[in-house]
Amino acid sequence: MIETIATKPFNDQKPGTSGLRKSVPHFRQANYAENFIQAIFDAADSHDGETLVIGGDGRFYNREVIQTAIRMAAGNGYGRVVVGRGGILSTPAASNLIRIRKAAGGIILSASHNPGGPKGDFGIKYNVANGGPAPEKITSAIFERTRTMSQYRIWSGDAPSLAEFGETKLGDMVVEVIDPVADYAALMEKLFDFGQIRDLIASRFTLRFDAMHAVTGPYAKEILENRLGAPLGTVINGEPLEDFGGGHPDPNAVHAATLINQLMAPNGPDFGAASDGDGDRNLIVGKGIVVSPSDSLAVLAANAHLAPAYKDGIAGIARSMPTSQAADRVAAKRGIGMYETPTGWKFFGTLLDAGKVTICGEESAGTGSDHVREKDGLWAVLLWLNILAVRRESVQAILESHWAEFGRNYYQRHDYEEVDAKAAEGLMGSLHDRLASMAGQRFGTLVVSEADDFSYKDPVDGSVATGQGVRIVFSGGSRIVYRLSGTGTKGATLRVYIERYEPDRTRHDIAPEQALTELIDTASAIGEIGKRTGRTAPDVIT
Ligand code: G6P
Ligand code: ZN
Repeated sequence: MIETIATKPFNDQKPGTSGLRKSVPHFRQANYAENFIQAIFDAADSHDGETLVIGGDGRFYNREVIQTAIRMAAGNGYGRVVVGRGGILSTPAASNLIRIRKAAGGIILSASHNPGGPKGDFGIKYNVANGGPAPEKITSAIFERTRTMSQYRIWSGDAPSLAEFGETKLGDMVVEVIDPVADYAALMEKLFDFGQIRDLIASRFTLRFDAMHAVTGPYAKEILENRLGAPLGTVINGEPLEDFGGGHPDPNAVHAATLINQLMAPNGPDFGAASDGDGDRNLIVGKGIVVSPSDSLAVLAANAHLAPAYKDGIAGIARSMPTSQAADRVAAKRGIGMYETPTGWKFFGTLLDAGKVTICGEESAGTGSDHVREKDGLWAVLLWLNILAVRRESVQAILESHWAEFGRNYYQRHDYEEVDAKAAEGLMGSLHDRLASMAGQRFGTLVVSEADDFSYKDPVDGSVATGQGVRIVFSGGSRIVYRLSGTGTKGATLRVYIERYEPDRTRHDIAPEQALTELIDTASAIGEIGKRTGRTAPDVIT
């Protein structure tokens, strides 16, 4: 029986960069998840009899919300729910399923790389029929609905167990429990030359993949160990845990330090990689060298033709605005399109759908292609492996030859976490106020050539996004970008992105912090970071 339950609106259900993210206790308030899910169904196009994909990264509270979402889908007229066994689906696997099952959309339960557990974070994200995150016009419609929500519809009985494969019925709706890995692994096998990668792995090449006790464990074991023949134990921390083993499933220099240290050891593996809570981010490490996400995007774009799926070349590249301009150099040299979008994978969807770009990437460790509409951690790992299998050079050698050909974009991101929200807004406000008078100002040897607040007009659908980050560009092309994170759940996170282009190949082996010293000091000075935040150093540098 379908029940209609009365509820009251919450005033804080505005989706951020990637869906609604709050702490678990916050999400556990009565009707909090229900209201948001109803708002999604209300804002989504007609879905009578349609298919909905549901899955999550396995974090604490996942199962409860999945049960609720299934019952609410039945209460809202969906014809079929496709759900991963145990409620598990990585974000890219969910995107793939939405596409191949021609679903009306999907609900992904994840807070990505944020910690999990009873006091950790939780999140709900809606993806549309192309498999990608809902565009702004839909996330705004969802938010509008949450503000007036007065009732939700839910099937009164329990949702079926998700432990066994197969179909059951909930009212008129079919609930289909599927293997979360199978379709995704088949897709990867289609894109890449598994035979060649198998040969590489069978040679003396060694690799390690850190699943960080998050969702990619079963995917990586099936693909790397079972299908590509990597020795058992190649995948470490491969058991998904509700609290990620108490860790922070963010594949960066801080949280993946153990893996990075192993790769820095002289007798360590040749290749290391990690993914985040929901499997869409990636970290790539070669022996003795960490590949920055911006460089990874550029190298993957420049070498994608070595993998079967991209053998005819790529149509174009897109990157988020704060991502380094390394990829732009590849696009310029190859004569293909280059697009600069606001932060957030959702901005790539129209470009991918229109065939304007094939590969996209962000400084926040996301890379992906038109095979799905999400960034895809294991995809990036496999494309790297495919390239390594063809070129038979080390990661370091590939990077060095890339820089020699295209020049090197030295790059760092400095994060100031849990900053007082008012102080952070004050800092951004003050930068805005000074933008108009910035051009021509001199800071040490640096002269500002232009300064603006990034706004973007989507070239496909014409939609406009404003206020996407302050850019200060210096003559010579160096850049400082300031923006506030849209994914944090506590206070504000100030991100400062610093970049300098170095064409001289004799100057490509400087440590980034050294190559960027003057810009780093200038970024603190212009942003008045110390004065406004009380911080003397960033919490995380990536
Ligand atoms: C999520 C989004 C990305 C975005 C990242 C950082 O992972 O999917 O597209 O780049 O968050 O966003 P933030 O607003 O925290 O800088
Ligand atoms: Zn993620």
